[in-house]
Amino acid sequence: MAITIRDVQAFKRSGRRFVMLTAYEYQTAQVFDEVGVPIIFVGDTLGIFALGYGTTIPVTMDAMIHHCRAVSQAVSNALLVGDLPFGSDMTVADGIRNASRLISDGGMHAVKLEGAKVELIRFLTQSGIPVMGHLGLTPQAFNKLGGNKVQARTGSAAQLLLQDARSVQEAGAFALVLEAVPISAAMRVTSELRIPTIGIGAGPHCDGQVLVGAEMLGLSGAPSPRFVKRYGQLREAMADATRSFVAEVASGEFPGVTYSYDWALKT
Ligand code: KIV
Repeated sequence: MAITIRDVQAFKRSGRRFVMLTAYEYQTAQVFDEVGVPIIFVGDTLGIFALGYGTTIPVTMDAMIHHCRAVSQAVSNALLVGDLPFGSDMTVADGIRNASRLISDGGMHAVKLEGAKVELIRFLTQSGIPVMGHLGLTPQAFNKLGGNKVQARTGSAAQLLLQDARSVQEAGAFALVLEAVPISAAMRVTSELRIPTIGIGAGPHCDGQVLVGAEMLGLSGAPSPRFVKRYGQLREAMADATRSFVAEVASGEFPGVTYSYDWALKT
């Protein structure tokens, strides 16, 4: 049965810890969906992990739609969430138009947006577009924050985080990503909110955990932040397979007769 935002909210009520994973293309999304990942997220980190930019800032709506469509073709069970990229929600009007595109053109079920943009969240949820919030480190504010740094490290900053989280919830968000905040700050937000929190570098007390798929699988060659655990070594596996192919072609072993058509053979 396809996962809905109601299921995600029920996970919190029943104490079931859950995951969200980013995917940017068909094959990866298909694997995540097949193994039962409940939320597949087309994040603007596709700028870094699929397009090779240094930050998420150059990611356009057109790029988001392109990748969302590919992911949506692969998925039949997971809840699909698409990210509003930098510059797409600077005004409420822009946010509404671009969120609608992620749903109607990109095939997403919900959108995620960075920051306590309560007016936009209210408009979207009232118009039938479910919204996932994102507080703490918001990478689209890279230039303002002076880099990707841990947030809410002081008592007053943690209090502000909690206020923003409450506002995002009251505006109608169905879940909230907390990125790069201390354990205590995330624990407080998680215990005070009705909606589930989904942590990335936010410690063990969040209701769910999200990782970038390419990092979790060990596909990315770039150094990862402290909060990333690599559960696979796909980069090494790809390099080994590629080396074997190159070597077998060089030695003449591939394709041989086995991987060729020969009219004299019956099969
Ligand atoms: O774009 C992204 O992948 C994200 C996650 C890190 C939550 O925002």
